[in-house]
Amino acid sequence: REQEKANKAKRGANVKEITTVGVVGLGLMGHGIAQISAAAGFQTVGVDLNAEVLANGQKAIETSVAKLNSRKASKNPDFDAPAATEETLARLSYASTVDAVAQCDLIVEAIVEDASIKQKFYADLGERAKAEAIFASNTSSLAVAPMAAASQRPDRFVGLHYFNPVQLMKLCEVVQTPEVDDEVVELVDGWARLTGKITVRCKDTPGFIVNRLLVPNLAAAIAMAERGDAAIQDIDAAMCLGAGHPMGPLQLADYVGLDTCLSILKGWCAQYPDEPAFFVPPSLTAKVAAGKLGRKSGEGYYVWGDGPASTKP
Ligand code: 3HC
Repeated sequence: REQEKANKAKRGANVKEITTVGVVGLGLMGHGIAQISAAAGFQTVGVDLNAEVLANGQKAIETSVAKLNSRKASKNPDFDAPAATEETLARLSYASTVDAVAQCDLIVEAIVEDASIKQKFYADLGERAKAEAIFASNTSSLAVAPMAAASQRPDRFVGLHYFNPVQLMKLCEVVQTPEVDDEVVELVDGWARLTGKITVRCKDTPGFIVNRLLVPNLAAAIAMAERGDAAIQDIDAAMCLGAGHPMGPLQLADYVGLDTCLSILKGWCAQYPDEPAFFVPPSLTAKVAAGKLGRKSGEGYYVWGDGPASTKP
């Protein structure tokens, strides 16, 4: 506590306004976050240490920005799609070292979902980033507080959880630990709203709001198919047509990534063994072991033929 107070005093005032944003991890979620940040007018640096992920992230952003702008133009003939695309892309830069985000006001992390890797990352980032910078983790299932503690700036650290595809999904969860400054939460929440999202606030509990309710539901649907209670297609059709969901649970599990679903469930089972909603369906483990990761690998519970932008098997 005393050390934290001293660190806080040393860092001085909070960032008052966010103008520059760094996004570390340019995979499925990170590229979308970098994109909406730049589209909303913020100078944005996208970083990935893996050259292939960085190049694919940049390519995905370029395709997606052009697609969204041409869709806007089809509804509004006065909208200059090529100019808007150029403007957004000009606000983006890319780098392969974390030092490239050191001077950003807000640094959003979307790296691999592994608690010890994230904590190491934040310990390092805490040393490199400018003193007043705010950190936000897009973790989907890990506790925010240990990352905040590792960063040495828990007063300037929030969870900022987006949904896939970031460009289309309207929600962003703003996760508050007991240590975070209210001023920081307001600032980051305001930034997320400027990027076009509706925000909700929640505490640092497993899965926050959406994943705590959604992921056990995906597991229950997989278990239902494993029991043979209904065919996969019928379970999905039932939840779309009978419950009004845009995608059925097995299609959505494929869409999110079966490896992601498995890693979330395994982590929760280990940490909360007495919670009956947290369990790992055997077919999920088997699919991932066979490299069938869902849409991203071309096959999961369904065969996906249309490439990475497809929303239907
Ligand atoms: N950028 C630009 N365009 C994109 C895109 C992207 N990233 N992704 C898809 N599109 C395009 C499609 O290619 C399609 O273009 P077209 O009209 O020219 O063919 C268009 O957007 C819309 O696609 P659809 O016609 O399939 O539209 P839908 O009305 O079905 O909407 C959807 C697609 C929004 C993905 C909808 O199916 C949906 O809401 N699905 C559920 C998604 C969901 O629940 N996500 C949350 C998962 S949980 C999570 O992310 C948390 C994590 O922590 C695990």
